[in-house]
Amino acid sequence: ELNRRESLMIVSGYATKFFQESMWDTDEGKAIGLSYFKERGFTAETMRKFELGYSPDQWEAFTGRALQEGYQQEFLVESGLSVKRDNGTLYDRYRGRVMFPIHSFTGRVIAFGGRTLKSDKSVPKYVNSPESEIYHKSNVLYGLFFAKKAIRDEDNCYLVEGYADVLSVHQAGIENVVASSGTSLTVEQIRLIGRLTKNITILYDGDAAGIKASLRGLDLILEEGLNVKVVSFPNGDDPDSYVRKVGTNAFKTHIAENRKDFILYKTDILLKDAGNDPIKRAEVIREVVESIAKIPDSIKASVFIKECSYIMHIDERALLSELNKMKLAKA
Ligand code: GTP
Ligand code: MN
Ligand code: MN
Ligand code: MN
Ligand code: MN
Repeated sequence: ELNRRESLMIVSGYATKFFQESMWDTDEGKAIGLSYFKERGFTAETMRKFELGYSPDQWEAFTGRALQEGYQQEFLVESGLSVKRDNGTLYDRYRGRVMFPIHSFTGRVIAFGGRTLKSDKSVPKYVNSPESEIYHKSNVLYGLFFAKKAIRDEDNCYLVEGYADVLSVHQAGIENVVASSGTSLTVEQIRLIGRLTKNITILYDGDAAGIKASLRGLDLILEEGLNVKVVSFPNGDDPDSYVRKVGTNAFKTHIAENRKDFILYKTDILLKDAGNDPIKRAEVIREVVESIAKIPDSIKASVFIKECSYIMHIDERALLSELNKMKLAKA
């Protein structure tokens, strides 16, 4: 209910300030957190805008201070900022991590992502807030509050995988960028974008996982009736590492020159594996038509059938009959 939600947002706001102070105003925070973000190329302006911070490497630094200030145990635990021990006492969920606050559509902090600074593979790279009354991760897009105006103005939304990707792309002057952090893309997230624009451009990591997620994401986006394009990055790069490697201008050029509509993207990916094997090529065509079959608007679908026919040198009527079969099977 309203009061509980408000209490959770107040404690999250308090934590945001605490993590910011810990980063900007303590020796540990400056030496570890701030210098980490600087090395990653984030400017002070970006760090302030996104309210980045640092959680001290102690068991109760935040919890102790919050209790002292009168914040109630119940909300510390429900927000996920504190964790309850068996003996009933609380400790900090985030310790020695750089902190990415996650904002609601209206700019309130509702959750956190905390990144470890250790390269030790036994600790999780990112720890995220658990679900709570104010944080349903499937309904949240990281960066949306800072991106929404640009998404409307540009009539396009760039979709990336991670927190750092949002920050780097935004910092490069491309502000219409969000991430589905902590989950794979959901229908709710697509609908959230759909209220601002009907055009999504996927910029996922240039690795096998990123390609797989792109193929899944584009089908989901098409099913929701939105338009989708994809930009690939070299294997081993994500938008964050790539923009730092090549600089802002070359990054923008890369996006402009490598933006592919979903048919071209999907056929390129799948045809690489198929080679000249006619049976495998037929399978690729079927998979592309499967994506087209997800488009609710049949006029749009027929335009893509034309494109597919052109790219694959396949008779349009054969594709259309395949499309209709798939639609009948679904109905
Ligand atoms: P950096 O190494 O900081 O550049 O991270 P990244 O964003 O490039 O990470 P990666 O591509 O591995 O993952 C993309 C996103 O998935 C991250 O930004 C996180 O939101 C999420 N993620 C990655 N690793 C973990 C993890 O260990 N646990 C959880 N819960 N989420 C993760
Ligand atoms: Mn939920
Ligand atoms: Mn990845
Ligand atoms: Mn990265
Ligand atoms: Mn990545």
